[in-house]
Amino acid sequence: MIKKIGRNDPCWCGSGKKYKYCHQKMEDKILRYEAEGHIVPTRDMIKTPEQIDGIRESGKINVAVLDAVAEQIRPGMSTQDIDNIVYETTTRLGGIPAPLNYEGFPKSVCTSINDEVCHGIPSEDIILQEGDIINVDVSTIYKGYFSDSSRMFCIGEVSEERRRLVEVAKECIQKGLEQVKPWGFMGDMGEAVHRHALDHGYSVVADIGGHGVGLEFHEDPFVSYVTTRGTEILLVPGMVFTIEPMVNAGTDEFVQDEDNGWTIYTYDGEDSAQWEVTVAVTEDGYEILAW
Ligand code: MF3
Ligand code: CO
Repeated sequence: MIKKIGRNDPCWCGSGKKYKYCHQKMEDKILRYEAEGHIVPTRDMIKTPEQIDGIRESGKINVAVLDAVAEQIRPGMSTQDIDNIVYETTTRLGGIPAPLNYEGFPKSVCTSINDEVCHGIPSEDIILQEGDIINVDVSTIYKGYFSDSSRMFCIGEVSEERRRLVEVAKECIQKGLEQVKPWGFMGDMGEAVHRHALDHGYSVVADIGGHGVGLEFHEDPFVSYVTTRGTEILLVPGMVFTIEPMVNAGTDEFVQDEDNGWTIYTYDGEDSAQWEVTVAVTEDGYEILAW
């Protein structure tokens, strides 16, 4: 619930401007949506331009790290080698890998191969084989700002089925992005993602999704793709979140690794693919802050 402040009081965002010249108009509009029964963002979900600048800088490192992985990834490499590239590139650019020690996660990046849905842990013993598909999920902290994005890589020649899954999962991101606009709904984005996956005979994991990001690694709101238009949280300028659907060739059900407590696998052993962007809602659409 938005706390009322006086029109002539300084805006809560720290801009130094009077509330009436800063966030008031937008918040009055948010309150009208709330009165109609919609879920609306709280103030901490709305980033200031300075904060978005910070997340954008963090995102540049995240992109550079993924570019470095893209350049070097090849068959015969271990996923620990990927972890080394991520750690070295991130720190060389002045950042910190956000996954490292996050809730006990032991490495700097998640590497999820074939039937691994997400949160694969890099290891010397996991060697990339010709024909594998792998998600490399990179997250960076820079000057206190968090960014988060991931890409799929095809290792050498992969089967037509796998190539298609990777392509469609990427297209899902584009379909979702097209729905990101102020005064739209998160459910518009989710439905577009889900629809595209379903149209190709795939499923989308329901219980693991995206999240607000920027001042923390994982912030509210939770971002689902199993949604319908006109539902879920209202999108307003300044919100920053990830779109990161896990698209499965078979069932959307999954199991967690009992030994390491992290890695998620498809229940049926079929392949899974995921791309992830960090996106900001702008005055007239969206801005990708990391991909
Ligand atoms: N990068 C993942 C995400 O997209 C989160 C990984 S948590 C970790 O939200 F601890 F495994 F890194
Ligand atoms: Co994420």
